[in-house]
Amino acid sequence: MTGTAAIIGGGVIGGGWAARFLLNGWDVNLVDPDPEAMRKVADVLANARRAYPRLHEEALPQEGRLTHCASIAEAVAAADWVQESVPEQIELKHRVIGEVQAHMPAGAILGSSTSGFTPTALQQGAPRPEAVLVAHPFNPVYLLPLVEVVASEKTGHGGH
Ligand SMILES: NC(=O)c1ccc[n+]([C@@H]2O[C@H](COP(=O)([O-])OP(=O)(O)OC[C@H]3O[C@@H](n4cnc5c(N)ncnc54)[C@H](O)[C@@H]3O)[C@@H](O)[C@H]2O)c1
Repeated sequence: MTGTAAIIGGGVIGGGWAARFLLNGWDVNLVDPDPEAMRKVADVLANARRAYPRLHEEALPQEGRLTHCASIAEAVAAADWVQESVPEQIELKHRVIGEVQAHMPAGAILGSSTSGFTPTALQQGAPRPEAVLVAHPFNPVYLLPLVEVVASEKTGHGGH
């Protein structure tokens, strides 16, 4: 399966998610206000291109396309999966989740890389709490095939 992933925040973790999606053939729309973000993501991607194929006996699919987006609205407009990886501050995550959900397609899922917040905390004030879950990866994200998925009572209702 391939599609389009929107990566919100391209630091250590978001850069790793971007590389993992790209190397599995997904297109990636990345948004990060840091002017150095794309350079940092390119560094992670270079490491991933070297290391990730060694974990596989079969050839990987054709790499997806990486696009740097100027806004969350642009990044998520055509996304199948949105992965939030901004710094661990609840007010920031709430603001980002609100903006993502104002623009993402109705069928898309929003995963948060949070290390410490519960899905219930993240869902507070969200326009569509049922489409928010924790998808907590392990570093380096492009190498470790492990994601801790945490739902709340609200997750999965309303068609998800
Ligand atoms: N570092 C780890 O080992 C690790 C492991 C698992 C999960 N996490 C979680 O992943 C998340 C990100 O952590 P990190 O280590 O990658 O942090 P980081 O500081 O390396 O990266 C965060 C990025 O988000 C960007 N950002 C800030 N505000 C933004 C906004 N409004 N929109 C888009 N981008 C924005 C920053 O410019 C930065 O590049 C946190 O929730 C953290 O708890 C971290």
